[in-house]
Amino acid sequence: MSETVSVSKDGEIAIVTVDNPPVNAVGLSVRQGLWDAIPALEADDSVRAAVLICAGRTFIAGADIREFDGGALDPWLPEIVDRMHASTKPWVAAIHGTALGGGLETALGAHYRVALASAKVGLPEVALGIIPGAGGTQRTPRLTCAAAAVKLVTSGAPISAAEAQDAGLIDRIVDDLLPDAVAFARSIMDQPVPRLDPAPAPTDLTPADWDELRQTVQKKAKGQLSPVRGLDAVRIAFELPLSEGMDRERDIFLELKETDQSKALRHAFFAERAVAKPAALKGAKPRQLERVAIVGGGLMGSGIATAALTAGLIVTIIEQTMDAAEQAKGRVAANLESGVRKGRMSEDQRDALLGKLRVTNSYHGADGADLCIEAVFEDADTKRAVFEQLAQIAGPDAILATNTSYIDPVSFTDAVPNPGRVMGLHFFSPAHIMRLVEVVRTPQTEPEVLATGFALAKKMRKVAVLSGVCDGFIGNRILGAYGRMAGYLLEDGASPQQIDAAMKRFGMPMGPFEMFDMAGLQIGYANRKREAATRPADQRYSRVPDLIVEQGWLGQKTKQGYYRYEDGSRTAIPSEEFNALLEAERGARNITPRDISDEEIVASLHAVQVNEAAMILAEGVAERPLDIDIVKLMGYGYPRWRGGPMMEADRLGTDRVLATMQQIAETDPGSWSVAPLLSRLGAEATPFSSLN
Ligand code: 3HC
Repeated sequence: MSETVSVSKDGEIAIVTVDNPPVNAVGLSVRQGLWDAIPALEADDSVRAAVLICAGRTFIAGADIREFDGGALDPWLPEIVDRMHASTKPWVAAIHGTALGGGLETALGAHYRVALASAKVGLPEVALGIIPGAGGTQRTPRLTCAAAAVKLVTSGAPISAAEAQDAGLIDRIVDDLLPDAVAFARSIMDQPVPRLDPAPAPTDLTPADWDELRQTVQKKAKGQLSPVRGLDAVRIAFELPLSEGMDRERDIFLELKETDQSKALRHAFFAERAVAKPAALKGAKPRQLERVAIVGGGLMGSGIATAALTAGLIVTIIEQTMDAAEQAKGRVAANLESGVRKGRMSEDQRDALLGKLRVTNSYHGADGADLCIEAVFEDADTKRAVFEQLAQIAGPDAILATNTSYIDPVSFTDAVPNPGRVMGLHFFSPAHIMRLVEVVRTPQTEPEVLATGFALAKKMRKVAVLSGVCDGFIGNRILGAYGRMAGYLLEDGASPQQIDAAMKRFGMPMGPFEMFDMAGLQIGYANRKREAATRPADQRYSRVPDLIVEQGWLGQKTKQGYYRYEDGSRTAIPSEEFNALLEAERGARNITPRDISDEEIVASLHAVQVNEAAMILAEGVAERPLDIDIVKLMGYGYPRWRGGPMMEADRLGTDRVLATMQQIAETDPGSWSVAPLLSRLGAEATPFSSLN
């Protein structure tokens, strides 16, 4: 039929196999193959029914997203799905792996669906900034209830085969996919072919209910268009006949596909996969990991231990005292327990994982470990002492990693024999939840050691990004520029509320000052003291953050920081005490507060991040702009629908970002200089993506 679609027969049952590795995406060749197969089988008198099945690891995982940048080529998927549904012979979709997006829509065009119990189905299009475009928003509501259809389309989250069966989307769960699907096809081939009712789907929801639902979806979407438009499309299924609904769905799909949001979300999808393949790791083979020792069982260490256990590793936590070690075990148990509560694991699985955890107060816990991860207090001397012990006790080939978030690993591992085995593994807190890990290479780290860091992240279902050494690595170094600029804007006349609100409207989950208060202000304080010696003398220094900490205000945990907090609440309330401190400091520095617009806040905070990122790229700390985007998306809550700061710079135009940065640097040349790379790209309005 085509290179990717073949037809065979088992008696009177045709077996149509899609084989388009790696995930059977419906590209042109698959579409053409299916388009031709349907009428051919229709005309073949020896065939009474057809089974649609896929080779490889999964059923069709959706349309081929790589084709989205060009115009759609005939035949279109909706026409194929219609053609299949109009067939006079029954089609049975046989699902394994994941039937997603256009994959599920193709299956919904079949007259029946059978699936392995391990299969999942879903309509994840909203995560790409679009809505289902091959009938998903119109057929799903006609097969299931309004609530289930709304959830599938607006959340994009897949559901299990059992849930799909309950919802009416799957007819039977089978054990042996092909033989059982063929047997099923044989059992229904004499029955009339079932058709979807083309009338509007029935529902009890009133227009007021829909409006309320829309508001809920809009609030949750935080500026992202696709979930809201997905809801609009589902609503149409309850108001218009199928064919009109399909036309409306197509219009919304095509409109959204061209938006900046969809382009940014597609960029994020591919960037998330591309970060796993940095040039520096080409050809490097990861080592096998079985046993991990973690030094330090605080919040970070116990989070890392939890992630390592769930990745199937045997874990030892080393603490200073047995008391502290037992507390660490308690923290891991609590993390796993929350996994049970959220349905991520059973109680038996939790117990099995806890059975693989050992805690001790002796460095001999590192005996036989393939990998040791240090997660102690952020202080070079403390870390040096840990590495001295590990170097003596862990085997000479054991990989030694540090979870430092700022300090150059070489500064405290220089005495370790065989330094090629040292790397940074910078996890983000809470480490068993946050998906980002910066894998930090020192000038000596061997590629196979880095590859092992990447393999570990993958086992933990995390996303690893390669970073070179610099203060704060990729993410925290950019955060430093962001925080510094936010501090200047504050001193110059904006309030924490104005800056935070502007950044939330931009799409950040919280503004910088809410974030500082939440994280605790003492770490930044310690960092500033550490950096004092190397800070350029003419750089502007806002004393406000130091003055706050010196008052004993450490943020949420002391109920006072840039904001105040009431007992047990995380709601940031404007603080008269802080405002008085700010005003006094402005007075002491002779700063006359000026009016600062929200636009200036957003543009400045973006420009300084891109500027810092451009330096990071030029220094080779990050390989590609996309690595920076993923760090910011996955570690710092940057709105995914903006694709990351570099993608956002490309959207605005690098010339425009350069102009903003030039103005910032002209106003305060002691604090800022324009990155040469930004100057070069901006001068010609060349996008950062040209460097990916
Ligand atoms: N189109 C093109 N390439 C795709 C793709 C797709 N729909 N889905 C995955 N790929 C590529 C990935 O980019 C990756 O390529 P690489 O090896 O070169 O990096 C490769 O396939 C393997 O993907 P993963 O690394 O993600 O493999 P996993 O096994 O971890 O996950 C998956 C498999 C769950 C299917 C995951 O790839 C996924 O979620 N894919 C996207 C599914 C999706 O969004 N479908 C909807 C598409 S839009 C649509 O269908 C529109 C329709 O309504 C008209």
